[in-house]
Amino acid sequence: MSNKRLKNKIALITGAGSGLGYETSKLFLSEGSFVYMSDINPIDTNELIENGYKDQFKEISLDISSKLAWQEFLVILKSDKKNINVLVNNAALSNPETRWDLINTSEEIWELAMSVNSTGVFLGMKNIIPEMIKNKDGSVINVSSIFGKVGSEMGAVYHAAKGSVTTLTKAAAIQYASSNVRVNSVHPGFLETNMTKKLHNKPGVREQRNKSTPLGRIGNPIDVAYGILYLASDESSWVTGSELVIDGGYLAQ
Ligand SMILES: NC(=O)c1ccc[n+]([C@@H]2O[C@H](COP(=O)([O-])OP(=O)(O)OC[C@H]3O[C@@H](n4cnc5c(N)ncnc54)[C@H](O)[C@@H]3O)[C@@H](O)[C@H]2O)c1
Repeated sequence: MSNKRLKNKIALITGAGSGLGYETSKLFLSEGSFVYMSDINPIDTNELIENGYKDQFKEISLDISSKLAWQEFLVILKSDKKNINVLVNNAALSNPETRWDLINTSEEIWELAMSVNSTGVFLGMKNIIPEMIKNKDGSVINVSSIFGKVGSEMGAVYHAAKGSVTTLTKAAAIQYASSNVRVNSVHPGFLETNMTKKLHNKPGVREQRNKSTPLGRIGNPIDVAYGILYLASDESSWVTGSELVIDGGYLAQ
């Protein structure tokens, strides 16, 4: 008998083309889940096919900030006759402009980053939780950040959006607990991904981030993917509304 931790699970992961979303997709596949890998950009799935996962995933083009895109995904789901058990709201936007301080943040950047990083998570839950309620089974994992819990000198809109994800998670957890739909947030510390590559390559930034992390290093996507795996699996069946901080000790200071 298979002892895979996500046996019989069907997951949708947003932002699956890069960094944490890609690593989580790989881990889910290795643990037996079927994965809808969605992203706004094309996904390079060659490695997954080479590893024998060809029939275990489907690539989906989905801009999380678009109401229409979510509705189109529901049509795909219906024609595939699949029930989603796990939603990982992982996709987010972070660029130099989203890292500007409050006074220098333009209204345009505010609207753009909120539409992806906050509204995108709202739309994901709004469209997928009703599917989970039908089956009285679901786990939603919303990827927030350490910056969804504390402030910093970097960015205004990123903090606002990630903070909204933290508390929206708790509201959804309470509202749908009676339908056995669990909703938790994950709070990564500094990670080495495409989102941060340029920033970390600036003189002194990587060193400073290594130093400010008690465990002495920036994290890798797999460090966080294992936490998402736990929340997706039935091992966490009594966990809802919680904040899983995976940050090398950053927030303990
Ligand atoms: N990298 C870090 O240091 C760090 C720290 C804390 C939290 N996080 C969070 O982790 C999550 C994953 O980030 P990452 O570091 O892997 O970044 P990444 O840039 O490597 O991956 C993000 C993915 O999201 C996709 N995406 C962007 N906008 C989208 C949209 N509108 N619709 C659908 N997909 C979209 C991108 O194409 C990309 O594939 C994000 O929620 C991020 O905020 C990252």
